[in-house]
Amino acid sequence: MTTNPSVQHRWIRWPEGATPRLGYGADYNPEQWPREVWREDVRLMREAGVTIVSLAIFSWARLQPTPDTWDFAWLDQVMDLLHEHGIAVDLATATASPPPWLSTLHPEILPVTRTGETLWPGARQHWRPTSPVFRSHALRLVDKLATRYATHPALAAWHISNELGCHNVHDYSDDAAGAFRLWLRDRYRSLDTLNHAWGTSFWSQHYSAWEQILPPRLAASHPNPTQQLDFKRFSSDALRDHLCAEREVLRRITPDVPVTTNFMVMGETRGMDYAGWAAEVDFVSNDHYVHPGPQALDELSFSANLVSGIAGGRPWYLMEHSTSAVNWQPVNRAKLPGELARDSLLHVGHGADAVAFFQWRQSAAGAEKYHSAMVPHAGAGSEVFRDVTRLGATLAALAPVAGSVRKAARAAIVFDWDSWWAAEHDSHPSELLRYRQEALDWYSAFLALGVRADVVPAGSDFSGHDVLVAPVLHVVPAELAKRLTDFVHGGGHLVTTYFSGIVDENDHVHLGGYPGALRELLGVQVEEFAPLSDGEQVRLDNGDTATLWTEAVTATAPEVRVLARYADGPQAGRPAVTRRPVAAGSAAYVSTRLGPRQLAGLLGGLLDSAGVVSELPAAARGRVDLTVRRDERAEYWFLANRTDEPVDLAGLPDGEVLARSWPTPADGSGAENLAPRGVLVLRLSDGGAPPRPV
Ligand code: GLA
Ligand code: GLA
Repeated sequence: MTTNPSVQHRWIRWPEGATPRLGYGADYNPEQWPREVWREDVRLMREAGVTIVSLAIFSWARLQPTPDTWDFAWLDQVMDLLHEHGIAVDLATATASPPPWLSTLHPEILPVTRTGETLWPGARQHWRPTSPVFRSHALRLVDKLATRYATHPALAAWHISNELGCHNVHDYSDDAAGAFRLWLRDRYRSLDTLNHAWGTSFWSQHYSAWEQILPPRLAASHPNPTQQLDFKRFSSDALRDHLCAEREVLRRITPDVPVTTNFMVMGETRGMDYAGWAAEVDFVSNDHYVHPGPQALDELSFSANLVSGIAGGRPWYLMEHSTSAVNWQPVNRAKLPGELARDSLLHVGHGADAVAFFQWRQSAAGAEKYHSAMVPHAGAGSEVFRDVTRLGATLAALAPVAGSVRKAARAAIVFDWDSWWAAEHDSHPSELLRYRQEALDWYSAFLALGVRADVVPAGSDFSGHDVLVAPVLHVVPAELAKRLTDFVHGGGHLVTTYFSGIVDENDHVHLGGYPGALRELLGVQVEEFAPLSDGEQVRLDNGDTATLWTEAVTATAPEVRVLARYADGPQAGRPAVTRRPVAAGSAAYVSTRLGPRQLAGLLGGLLDSAGVVSELPAAARGRVDLTVRRDERAEYWFLANRTDEPVDLAGLPDGEVLARSWPTPADGSGAENLAPRGVLVLRLSDGGAPPRPV
């Protein structure tokens, strides 16, 4: 695995003498409970195998009840109590939710929406990322906390704010406008350069002074697309800047304590370009919640995989997931038996060295009282708590895995925030295009074939992979085009799709025909996009059905092979899927949307040509999600049963069973049989013999 050299790595500071282990815990919110409950909490934490909790995330109003009064006594007691019971603390800086006195005194910290509405207090995260007033109050609190707990033996890591940008990433206030201008000055240096980049000759948008520039607020028609793209980049950077400002205070006062913040690599949460944030923290943390639907488990695996890619393959911290239902989806499903453990262990397979839940004890009041927790409303006599305790024991058995890194897959999916943002702008050929969905569909195809694939940010070094799938890689600056071209000329196999290679970093079209920057490499030329209406489909000559998008594709290089043609519709007879052999490599192009099932068929053929095969026995392919970690001694194979049926694992390489989640097979049979929704972890000490023929 290629690692991101800029990513630092300082892990949780476990107490002196602690043996290597995986972390296990939760967000702990003791301020919601009377003190008597705290003692029971720590007793149950011990019982469950909890080793670390995140504390004080939403405690600002309790720690600083008025502008000039502070109350740390309760937190001192909780810190001491946790330490006495051997539980480490990932201490929050508590700045996520400003207290009522602050928003009353300074309503100018409140964020403003695109349409000019103020986001009032009453929920949480009602602060402008660029507010100097908010910043100074927040940093004062960070300073107080860091000073007070600098030498506390429970302090194992700092947790900056909470899910930065969850509710306030795009703020259109006057503070944001001012900060946006400064960001633009830094990026473009001169107005001429900005005017060129933004294409302001269009619609009379030429700027003659910096002060005229605004965030893309509600406008009469489509706002300038480069202004929109830059505002997304700026908004992500503004939150990163807040992260760095808090971190600097912490580094000054507690230079030896690692700093993290919980990312939200999940679903359609898209505001923060985490590939660019990873270098700012000592270790990467992520929150993940399952989004129900046919690809729910694929999405979990995809997200965890991308977090590992962002973390450069190194261990990371799953800061939040749920023991069962959440409270913020339209319908909140409870997990089925086995899912709690499977979800957690899938993250561990993808490199999580600590797994934690939101939250420890289910709230009796407040907006999240119907959100599951480790100790549910029903108490510690519950099935959930039994599962929580079993998971604690399973994680303890997995201690040998701690510190191991991801074993690179031969294939990788390229993921790019600029492309995500720009491909889905308004004023485009189709508003039905979904960037992340297309990437996820390709990931599902890999899962269906039982072939491991990494998910890596577009800035990664691609040289460690043999196959790269870059779906809807829309924004392709010259530098990225060169890296992809070099990859193919070096023997790599590239697969890309419709709406890729189209624009440069300024969202200017690469002229001469699509797919622009990748046209020559792919050996195809497209004169016009021909997207399909919602529900419309056309057939390909191999029997597949295409939706969303078609194009008038012409093969321009004689060696290009047409793998499938459009069979009906306006493009009938034209190439739909092509592959151009290039030296020992190749460049394939898929000009339409095929969906996960049909992509698996196509991908299978492309992987065969590249010599990339499944490491799983045939009976397990598509049914088992395989992730592999490694250290200098061994490989660790995580096999998660994706189905509700047992899976026969006969034919796996020999390995020692390190851990197995429940439910175990009723007949107690060994490693050969994976229970429904079960997970098996094998240690292969010889570094992993190839799979036996099956
Ligand atoms: C986020 C937050 C938590 C909680 C959970 C609920 O992840 O960080 O405070 O609100 O969502 O799922
Ligand atoms: C209107 C406007 C044009 C252009 C077209 C696009 O006709 O007058 O400037 O925007 O719409 O269809």
